[in-house]
Amino acid sequence: MRTIAIVNQKGGCGKTTTAVNLAGALTQDGARVLLVDLDPQAHATLALGLDAESLDENLYEVLADAPDAQGPPRLPSVIHAWSDHLHLAPSGIVLSALEQRLTAERAEDRTQRLALALADVAGSYDYALIDCPPNVGVLTFNALRASGEVIVPLETSDFGIHGVQKLLETIALLTDRIGHDLSVRILPTLYDGRTRYARETLAEIRGLFGDLCFDTVIRSNVKLREAARRGRPIGTFARSANGALDYGALAIEVAAQAQPGEVDLAPLGVADLGESLPDREIVVEFSDPLASDVRIAGDFNGWVPDKDVRSTVRADETGRVWRKVISLPPGTYHYRYVVDGEWREDPDNPNAVSAPVGGRNSILVVN
Ligand SMILES: Nc1ncnc2c1ncn2[C@@H]1O[C@H](COP(=O)(O)OP(=O)(O)OP(=O)(O)O)[C@@H](O)[C@H]1O
Ligand SMILES: [Mg+2]
Repeated sequence: MRTIAIVNQKGGCGKTTTAVNLAGALTQDGARVLLVDLDPQAHATLALGLDAESLDENLYEVLADAPDAQGPPRLPSVIHAWSDHLHLAPSGIVLSALEQRLTAERAEDRTQRLALALADVAGSYDYALIDCPPNVGVLTFNALRASGEVIVPLETSDFGIHGVQKLLETIALLTDRIGHDLSVRILPTLYDGRTRYARETLAEIRGLFGDLCFDTVIRSNVKLREAARRGRPIGTFARSANGALDYGALAIEVAAQAQPGEVDLAPLGVADLGESLPDREIVVEFSDPLASDVRIAGDFNGWVPDKDVRSTVRADETGRVWRKVISLPPGTYHYRYVVDGEWREDPDNPNAVSAPVGGRNSILVVN
C-alpha cells in the first residue's frame, strides 16, 4: 500500500478536492483506495456524501487510545465502502479534541497512531490518501509519519506560493524526527490560464520546484465544486469535465511513480536507548559577524530553537560568537542553527545530510 498525505497549512488550496478526486480517479483505473479524512472539518467525508455528525464512529475512535494488542484492529470497523474500490475512514468535529488529548502523551506514541492503524489494513488497499487539516499539528504529524509520499497542492491563483517554502522546511525538519524519507511533490491547483498572473505564478512554481512539481496542473473547474456538493468524485459525475481530465492525468502520473520503500514503523529509539546512560555536555560554537540572533534546534529539543540549551554570547576579533551547551545522552542527532530566523546547517561541521526537500541537517554523534 502506498500512503500519500495531502498537506498544506494554507486553507482552501485544494487539499480535499485533490484527496477525493485523485482517490476517485485511481479507483477508476482499477486501484483499491482508502481515503483517510484527517481534518476535523470533515470536508472529504462530506464530499463523499456522508454526514459526519450522523456517523456513530469516526477516526477519533481509532486514534484516541493506544492500540490494544489483544483486541481486534479498530480501523476496519469505522471504514465506509463508498464503492467496491473506494473506501473512506471518516472524520468528525470531535477529531479537533484529539490534539489536546494526545499532547499529554509520549511524542513517539502520539504521532504513530495512524501509522499503526493503517498497518492493519495495508493488505486491503493499493493506496491510502490522507486529507490533512490546514495546520501542522499532531494530526498532520500522524499523517506524515504514516506516509511515504506527500502531495502539496499549491494555488496558482493566489499568493499561496509564498508560504510553501516554509512548509517544505517544516516537512524536512519533521522528516528527521519521523525517521524515514518522504517523497514530496508539488501540485499546481486552481489554475486559470486566462489570467496572466496565474501563468506567471505557474512558471514561477516550475522554476522554483523543478522536478518536484507534477506535470499535471489542476485547472479551475466549477464542476469540481458541484461534484463535492453532490457527494461524488468528479469522474463519476462529469467524466469529460476539465476537473475529471486533470485528476485522471494526475492519477496516471502518481501511478507511474516508482514505489518508495516501505515505511519503517520502528521508532528512532535514540532517546530511549540513551535513557539509562549518563548525559554528556556537548558544546558547539557559531560565529557570524552579521548575525544578531543565533539559536540551535534539533531532534534533541523537538526542533524548538534553544529549548533545553544553555546559550551564551561573547565577542572576539571576528565578531560575536554564540556558544551552545546541551546535555545529551549518547546517540546520533540532527540539528540546524536558526540565524536571525533562517535555518542553516553548521558551517563548521562537515558531517551533514541532505533533507529530502532541500537544505541540509548537520549531524552530531554523542558517544
Ligand atoms: N480546481 C478547482 N476548481 C474549482 N474549485 C475548486 C478547485 N479546487 C478546489 N476548489 C474549491 O475551492 C474550495 C477549497 O478547496 P478545498 O476544500 O479542496 O481546499 P482545502 O485545501 O482542502 O481547504 P481546507 O484547508 O479548508 O481544508 C472548495 O470550495 C472547492 O470546491
Ligand atoms: Mg480540506
